[in-house]
Amino acid sequence: MEMSRLEKIFVNRSAKGRWNVRRLRKRLETFPMNDVRDVLEIGCGRGDVAAWLAATYPGLRVTGVDVDPEQVALARRVHGETDRLRFVEGDATDLPLADAGVNVVVAHHVFHHLPGWRDAVAELRRVLRPSGAVLWLGLTVPAIVRDVLRPFARKSGLFTFVDVAGAFSAKGLRLVDRRTVWSGPLVHQDLVLRRVELGRAAMTARRTQKSETPSTPSTTNTAPTTIGKIA
Ligand SMILES: C[S@@+](CC[C@H](N)C(=O)[O-])C[C@H]1O[C@@H](n2cnc3c(N)ncnc32)[C@H](O)[C@@H]1O
Repeated sequence: MEMSRLEKIFVNRSAKGRWNVRRLRKRLETFPMNDVRDVLEIGCGRGDVAAWLAATYPGLRVTGVDVDPEQVALARRVHGETDRLRFVEGDATDLPLADAGVNVVVAHHVFHHLPGWRDAVAELRRVLRPSGAVLWLGLTVPAIVRDVLRPFARKSGLFTFVDVAGAFSAKGLRLVDRRTVWSGPLVHQDLVLRRVELGRAAMTARRTQKSETPSTPSTTNTAPTTIGKIA
């Protein structure tokens, strides 16, 4: 869903871009980028995160995708494009990318804009290479808030942490790290989800459904789980 004018003013501030980069940089302190070649950022907005990734990791090819042509134009204007950085118009629920071409997907503050966020989960799985990972940085709500607000929020994504982790798990992306940045009525979480083989994923999904809790680290502010090499 495209943003309102007011939201654009807030989101497109350069200070917000710097904050986004700080968040991601912190997240990447314990995430192995050595073997990562192709990165996709969905809902890239003004493109600060995508541009920072391309500038910081000389081996990367980074694609920023946004559904709003104004946001794509802004990102191109602010950062330009190179052979390693491009901004593309596209919907996270129907990505204009080939299957299995990406090592890492970054989703920063975008899922709450997606009423069809479960379709986006399937798309991320489709474009990820084997052992690829999703860095999901966003907002979740407690179940009671989700249930109360759902009738009024048809144009947004409203989900609990369990909803998100469960949906990824059902598509073969296992939660390997979780950090809670802050919590209140909204919980700001950083999640790392890794593509696993389908047999294992199906078992994980079943376990998740059974216990109604995610299959992997679920405590807040835990020390990072070691993540192996990304394909
Ligand atoms: C809150 S902004 C976040 C932008 C940036 N990631 C950040 O954290 O500052 C959400 C972005 O997602 C984009 N967006 C919304 N729905 C989308 C969709 N279905 N597919 C791709 N991008 C979408 C919006 O246009 C907007 O740029």
